[in-house]
Amino acid sequence: MANIEAILSRMTLEEKIGQLMQYNASVFLDTSAEITGPMAQFGLSEADLGRLGSVLNFASADEMKQMQDMHLAKDPNKIPMLFMMDVIHGYRTIYPIPLGLSCSFDPELAKNCSRMAAREAGASGVQVTFTPMVDYARDPRWGRVMECCGEDPMLSGDLGAAQVEGFQGDNLKKPENLAACVKHFAGYGGAEAGRDYNLVERSERELREYFLPAYKACIDAGVELLMPSFNSLNGIPSVANPWLMQKILKEEWNYQGLVISDYNALGELLVHGIAADEKQAAKLAFENGCDIEMCSSTYLHHLKELVEEGAVSEEQIDAAVGRVLELKDRMGLFEDPYHGADQQKAESLYLCPEHRRIAREAAEQSAVLLKNNGLLPLDEKLNRLAVIGPFAREQGIIGSWSCCGRDEDSVSVAQGIRDLLPDAKITVAPGCGCRWDDRDTSGFAEAVEAAKNAQAVILCLGEPQSYSGEGNCRTDIRLPGMQLELARAVIEANPNTAVVLFHGRPLDIHELDEIAPAILSMWFPGSEGGSAAANLLFGRANPCGKLAMTFPRSVGQCPIYYNHPNTGRPHWTAEARQQHYASDYIDCGTLPLYSFGHGLSYSEFSYSDMEVSAPVMTAEEPIQVSVSLRNRSSRPGKEVVQLYMRDPVASVVRPVQQLIGYQKIAFGPNEEKQVRFTVTEEMLRFWNFEGQHVSEPGTIELMIGYADHFCTRATVELK
Ligand code: BGC
Repeated sequence: MANIEAILSRMTLEEKIGQLMQYNASVFLDTSAEITGPMAQFGLSEADLGRLGSVLNFASADEMKQMQDMHLAKDPNKIPMLFMMDVIHGYRTIYPIPLGLSCSFDPELAKNCSRMAAREAGASGVQVTFTPMVDYARDPRWGRVMECCGEDPMLSGDLGAAQVEGFQGDNLKKPENLAACVKHFAGYGGAEAGRDYNLVERSERELREYFLPAYKACIDAGVELLMPSFNSLNGIPSVANPWLMQKILKEEWNYQGLVISDYNALGELLVHGIAADEKQAAKLAFENGCDIEMCSSTYLHHLKELVEEGAVSEEQIDAAVGRVLELKDRMGLFEDPYHGADQQKAESLYLCPEHRRIAREAAEQSAVLLKNNGLLPLDEKLNRLAVIGPFAREQGIIGSWSCCGRDEDSVSVAQGIRDLLPDAKITVAPGCGCRWDDRDTSGFAEAVEAAKNAQAVILCLGEPQSYSGEGNCRTDIRLPGMQLELARAVIEANPNTAVVLFHGRPLDIHELDEIAPAILSMWFPGSEGGSAAANLLFGRANPCGKLAMTFPRSVGQCPIYYNHPNTGRPHWTAEARQQHYASDYIDCGTLPLYSFGHGLSYSEFSYSDMEVSAPVMTAEEPIQVSVSLRNRSSRPGKEVVQLYMRDPVASVVRPVQQLIGYQKIAFGPNEEKQVRFTVTEEMLRFWNFEGQHVSEPGTIELMIGYADHFCTRATVELK
């Protein structure tokens, strides 16, 4: 263990401030000329390179070692740098995008995926990852929904916490463990109009109810770092927002970990118009608890002056630097500045059979069977198959934020089917029918011909991976280009057509839904996407994913989410929808195409006999809710049993339904099981008008199923 106090006492103020700075690897690796390029951009001197605390984005363990050596040679205190990167859904082996993975409703699976990513990334020299991203989101126009865990606060928190545990492991000194960074605190997913970086204006009650719990769950799981979001929250950008960073994070939640800004977020305080100059930006961010500045230089250039003027105390600087040094110490960097990184070992892990297996399993469990009129699963004995559509041969299915993942390492649907059925005659229409996004229909004829000659068609559609992720928002979330027209032509030529969808957000596919016999959503499934799709299409794997985010019928309904508060003129009951003056649209209706929680299986599950253990519950006496669940098919399968509650009378308007428990359970053929949930008073709490987290006595409705499809209900009196 390093003696942090002793190290601090030896450091000059400049050296301390250096620990609070982070830049791209290019400041070390750009050899074009001295002090030009990245160094000039950030106003860095040679001496600064010997003082830097951390670096982000680099290519390999060898590169990391080279930078660490360069730095240590210059650093009088010999303090190793931390190396950080966005390892979001895999390092080189890529598993499904986080929103897809959330549809597995399986925190253990998410944890396994994170373990795998940590092994590859750790060997490659990464020590800190900027994940999990648990921005609560309801608006599919926002490109970054692909990174989030969906529209339920509890599910987001569970999956975020699982990622923290998966990445951090039991001991940060081990090379296969990375420190995690929860982001983007807070409310980034609430950006107005689904436009990236846009303002977020939300009531405190809404923030506490929906947006904040998942970050808190990650903190409770022991996350080491936290990143404030780019957006302004109720008028002040997060990194400089005292309500958020001081009152909530430090005072209420007692967060002790590191805070790192988002990329150039301090520089952007000037653009927001919150700071007149860099000096004011540095002061605002530092006094609100931002320890490390990423990719701007306001601390480097002004923190010393602020200390000298007495605007910032040296004790505050010591506290921030102390947090940086303590993390370095917990990671064992003072003993091994490379943290066990080993490029050879890394290469042996990339895409190894074990990692591919985990990626495939994750892709299978994340896929959601949206619709099936009985066409799926396809019979493996079919020997004339046509694989059509812009995603038929496409390997670009790993999704945005895929770190060092490469499209060419991933399995396309056509390849996946060939590998599964080597003897079948598979026709892949050479032009795939059409491209994603142009108006050219010249390939339709050959696609239709291929469809006519096949016993079944697998039609692979979607939005390209560059349409989602940071900065990639859309106002039109339908299938781009001529894909819907292609679907019409192909389905008319051969009604045995199953659609396989690739996408980074819920899409408006209501027109496709009207004509397609079966639709399987793969999201962006990662390196093993095509093998997973093949297994699912032919029944080697049984779909069990449930939507973690609602699919609207039209973009005009957005934001649309299952757990919305009631209105005085509700639209969500059949009777209410008869009324003209209901909270509804005259041209579309308010029901989504597919709600949160929806997802079909090849097994047939039936629920019955929901029972509560007692008619009355109290804080001291929770109740048990049980339900019988039977697989009425001969196919083994998994079902995500979802328990919801509604509080019909409370002092504030409550959501029409709210998930309070879920269990993913495996069933053998025709197997019946009792599923039991414990419901505690704490699970029924909400934020009241006075800002307290309380439950109120009265009737509570409990439902099993999902959204409009509750199969069984019960009530309990909360005393
Ligand atoms: C993103 C963060 C990311 C950071 C570093 C920013 O643009 O908002 O999510 O961690 O870049 O790459």
